[in-house]
Amino acid sequence: MSGEQTIQWFPGHMAKTKRRIKEILPLIDAVAEVVDARIPVSSRNPDLAEIIGDKPRIIILNKCDMADPKVTADWIAFYKEKGITAIGVDCKTGKGLNKFKDTVKTALAYKLQQYAEKGMAGKPLRVMVVGIPNVGKSSFINKIAGNGRAKVENRPGVTRGNQWFTVDKQLELLDTPGVLWPKFEDKTVGERLAFTGAVKDTIIDVELLAMRLLEILSEDYPELLTSRYGQLDFGCDSYDLLCQIGKKRGMMIRGGETDTERAANMLLEEYRNCKIGFISLEGAKENA
Ligand code: G4P
Repeated sequence: MSGEQTIQWFPGHMAKTKRRIKEILPLIDAVAEVVDARIPVSSRNPDLAEIIGDKPRIIILNKCDMADPKVTADWIAFYKEKGITAIGVDCKTGKGLNKFKDTVKTALAYKLQQYAEKGMAGKPLRVMVVGIPNVGKSSFINKIAGNGRAKVENRPGVTRGNQWFTVDKQLELLDTPGVLWPKFEDKTVGERLAFTGAVKDTIIDVELLAMRLLEILSEDYPELLTSRYGQLDFGCDSYDLLCQIGKKRGMMIRGGETDTERAANMLLEEYRNCKIGFISLEGAKENA
C-alpha cells in the first residue's frame, strides 16, 4: 500500500467503521482493545478513545512472547494508574488468556450487580474486540471463544455482518464491525509497524528502515546487539553500524563493500523472529 493510497481511502473507511462502532456501543458493556505489546502506542487506533466515549476499556497487550517483559509490566502498571485494566497475553500459545474472563468480570462487576438487582442475573456481558490489522485480533478471538461463534442475531442496530462469539454463559465477544487503522499520517508509526512486520516493508526503503531500527536498538538494547552480532563500535552513525553488522556476517560485495541491502533484510528478519532478543520499541515512560 502506498502512502498516496492511504491518504485516498483512509478517511472513508474509518468514517464507516466509526459509524458502525457508534451504532453498536449501546449493545456492549466494554471494549477489549488488542495492541502489539512491542509497540502499544503505534499499534493503536488514534480515535478509539473518542469513538467509544465512556465505555470501559480493557487493553490486551498481545504478542507478549516477543516483547521485553519488563516493558510490558511497566505498561500494565501505567494503565492501572489511569484506572484502565491491561493484561499481557500471547495468543500464539494462549499464555495469559486464562486471565481474560475474570478480568472482564472484575472490571464489570458493577454491571453484573445491576443485572442481578434487576432480576437479569443470567444476562451475558458483551465485549467488543477492536484492534488495527495484524495485532492478533482474530487469534485472540479464536483462542478465547474457540468454536463459539454465535448465530447471527436480530438485535436492533446489529447488522447481519456483525460477528458474535460465545465464550461462556456469562460472556460474549463481538468482532470489530469494520477495519480500524493506525495513525498512518505519523511517519514514526508507519516505521514501527514496518519493524514488526505489521505493514509490508516494500513501502519503505529497507536500508533506511533497518538504520532506524538500529538507532533504537543501539540506544535501548546495545548488549543484545553485541551478543547477537559480536563486538560493535557504537560511536558511529546507523549506516556504519549496519555495515559493521553486515561485515560480521560476511555480507560483502565486490570492492570490499558491505551488501547493506542484504544486511538490512537480515536485521529486520532477525528482529521480527526475536533472534536478537525480546525487544519492545515503545516504553510506558517515554510515551506517557
Ligand atoms: P488480526 O486479526 O489482528 O489481523 O491478526 P491475526 O490474528 O491474523 O494475527 C496476525 C499475525 O500475528 C499472525 O501471524 C498470528 O499468528 C500472529 N500472532 C497473533 N498473536 C500472536 C502472539 O501473541 N504472539 C505471536 N508470536 N504471534 C502472534 P501470521 O504470520 O500472519 O500467520 P501465522 O504465523 O499464524 O501463519
